[in-house]
Amino acid sequence: MNNQIYPCITGVAAWLPPDRLTNELLASMVDTSHEWIASRTGIEERRILKDKDLGTSYMASHAVMNLLEKKGMEADEVEVIICATITPDMMFPNTANLICDRIGARKALAFDMLSACAGFLYALETGCNYIRSGRYKKVIVVGADKMSSITDYEDRNSCILFGDAAAAVLLEPSPDEDGIIDTILRCDPVGKDLIYLKAGGSARPASLETVQNKEHFFYQDGKRVFKYAVQGMAAVSQEMMQKHHLTNEDIDYLIPHQANLRIIEATAQMTNIPLEKVTINIQKYGNTTAATIPLCIWEWENDFRKGQNILLAAFGAGFVWGATYLRWAYNPD
Ligand code: ACO
Repeated sequence: MNNQIYPCITGVAAWLPPDRLTNELLASMVDTSHEWIASRTGIEERRILKDKDLGTSYMASHAVMNLLEKKGMEADEVEVIICATITPDMMFPNTANLICDRIGARKALAFDMLSACAGFLYALETGCNYIRSGRYKKVIVVGADKMSSITDYEDRNSCILFGDAAAAVLLEPSPDEDGIIDTILRCDPVGKDLIYLKAGGSARPASLETVQNKEHFFYQDGKRVFKYAVQGMAAVSQEMMQKHHLTNEDIDYLIPHQANLRIIEATAQMTNIPLEKVTINIQKYGNTTAATIPLCIWEWENDFRKGQNILLAAFGAGFVWGATYLRWAYNPD
């Protein structure tokens, strides 16, 4: 008899800011065009949290409240809240703590996880381990980023890529062996100079100089990151499939991080998974960093069936990357 506890996703919800930033609007701000953005990235529009006084915790708490309402749960039933984000409201207290305040959760342990575009997978694996320990039964993992707060809207290379969003999943022990089966997470600091936010941390605190030099904005060497992202996501997905003796036909859905449609297509091609099985919503939301994967889970939830094989794959700044293999745990209502 297998006594292992399998964590499974038992619910998902999201929150998106209502304001849309279209390619046409961006073309009136910087020297670009809808055609260039759509053909190079697949993005057509993204959502922006316009209110400058609202941060990531605002979006994340709405996603979590939507999840609690959907599941008919009280905030005090939540035992663990992990927030994956690279755009915390402030350096401290952590964003998860601010989410607890907004939703009225008083009994949860709560912390943030900073692993950029792979943040949701890192947080999901951590949340799963709380369930696997047997000591916790209700864990919320939320991926949320207000990327507009670190985007330079005078830089056409980067401002076209990002959007703001939050999405959350509930993890519980599975009644059977369907659930999150395995996760592979990797880190290679070869990317530390290729994507970063230079200032605002302890090594380079904010100063007049850092603000004048625009060091509080996202920077990346897009071309080089692109190559690493394709290789990293495809290799870790293939490794996971081989480890579990899964062929491309066994995979029902591939849910890749949404950074660039061309990266998604290349990953699908290298893993031999047809695009009909790949979740793609980058055209509507852009790259929302830690939120992309749970946003896809949320949008495709009603298509998933119990027992289906789903592969999640992500790649982000660091570099950090990984893949998760799960068997979906429930049918739509
Ligand atoms: N509109 C018009 N022209 C543009 C724009 C724009 N918005 N941006 C760049 N260009 C120009 C460049 O100036 C360049 O012109 P040049 O040839 O005269 O110098 C030309 O277009 C080509 O630029 P590239 O940077 O080579 O364009 P590329 O095809 O590589 O696309 C992009 C750029 C979209 C950024 C791509 O490299 C990419 O998606 N990279 C990976 C992004 C990613 O995955 N990031 C990781 C996740 S982010 C995270 O972890 C938080």
